[in-house]
Amino acid sequence: MENTVSFGVIGCGLMGREFASASLRWLHLKGDLPRPRIIAACDTNEENLNWFRKDPDTKFFYRDYRDMLKNPQIEAVYVAVPHFLHARVYGDVIRAGKHLLGEKPFGMDQKAFEEIEKAMAERPDVFVRCTSEFPYYPAVQQMIAWFREGKFGRIIEAKFSIRHSSDMDLSKPINWKRTLAANGAYGCMGDLGIHVQHLPFRLGLMPRTVNAVLANLVKERRDAQTGEMRPCETWDNAILLCEGESPAGDRFPMTFEMKRMAPGCGNTVEYEIYGMELSAGFSTDDPNALRYTVSRGQEQAWARLPVGQKTLYPVITGGIFEFGFSDALLQMFAAYISELKGLPCAFPCFTPREAKKSHELLTAALMANEEGKTVRLSQDAPGR
Ligand SMILES: NC(=O)c1ccc[n+]([C@@H]2O[C@H](COP(=O)([O-])OP(=O)(O)OC[C@H]3O[C@@H](n4cnc5c(N)ncnc54)[C@H](O)[C@@H]3O)[C@@H](O)[C@H]2O)c1
Repeated sequence: MENTVSFGVIGCGLMGREFASASLRWLHLKGDLPRPRIIAACDTNEENLNWFRKDPDTKFFYRDYRDMLKNPQIEAVYVAVPHFLHARVYGDVIRAGKHLLGEKPFGMDQKAFEEIEKAMAERPDVFVRCTSEFPYYPAVQQMIAWFREGKFGRIIEAKFSIRHSSDMDLSKPINWKRTLAANGAYGCMGDLGIHVQHLPFRLGLMPRTVNAVLANLVKERRDAQTGEMRPCETWDNAILLCEGESPAGDRFPMTFEMKRMAPGCGNTVEYEIYGMELSAGFSTDDPNALRYTVSRGQEQAWARLPVGQKTLYPVITGGIFEFGFSDALLQMFAAYISELKGLPCAFPCFTPREAKKSHELLTAALMANEEGKTVRLSQDAPGR
């Protein structure tokens, strides 16, 4: 009989569907990791809910997630709903005793995160993780391996960025990400922050201080329903300049860029770590490769190393073929299932402790921007 984990999905939009697609592509993974079987779907939007009728595993359909949580057949729940709902829905999932894979930013703000934390304290038997897929690109995993082997030497600088450009289209209607009520004060930082934090936090590259420049560049957009202009209340772009510290005690400049208005970008994720002995950079613009340079005295020449499908969880695809976004999601879901089942997991999903640090950083960034000053962060390092 097939070895599976019975899932419910709350939020059948963009990300809910990605999970459904990955769950039906499990054959792609070698080995016998239990497959997530999405037996139940829940959405308040009928059209989005109906999309799940295409999933042969989905037998139960709900409009109210509280009804779904009463279903004893469901072991774990993936939640992909707008940010203002995270605290309530994640808390209810945990209290119902269902394992949770929640979406970023894992609570709309620090207070919302603390509410989720309370639920976790009440149910320590429930396994909880947050999504973040980009570190699962094999080229990023190669960077991680080099870092853990100490190949970078003393860290000089580190940069982590994600840049979108779809909002450059000024005729694009307003969506929930541009409203304070649904996305919170973090704006683009809540939406994009964890994508730039998972890798450094896990490597123990921690911000000690933060300065921030936040920009609201497009102040109103058309409402798709009414055609009227509505105010865009949240930040479009954010640049955080931090003093970072490595596990070896090196102090260095560290930047986090989260932008919804970046000309020419798609969903461009870039990770760069510069060291005295080795420097390396990854970009989703060249997802199959890692750029690196080894320092030889006065000379450093950049090289491009094609990495291909050297995935954390082996796949049927030949090693020479390219790796992409949906492959990264498959690897991330595999990591969640492995950890849930107590199986070996070399690079776990973003943890609640890391989410706590993320909220500390983003809350401090809001203050740094507001007051135009450097804000000092606590010295705990969840990834070390
Ligand atoms: N990991 C990633 O790369 C990634 C990418 C995009 C979005 N996200 C995250 O995923 C989450 C959802 O974003 P999205 O882009 O999928 O949004 P979306 O708008 O496409 O989907 C959200 C869905 O939630 C539904 N919903 C709203 N209220 C609900 C309720 N009370 N009960 C049940 N369903 C409800 C909506 O009808 C919609 O179908 C957010 O936290 C976002 O930050 C993650």
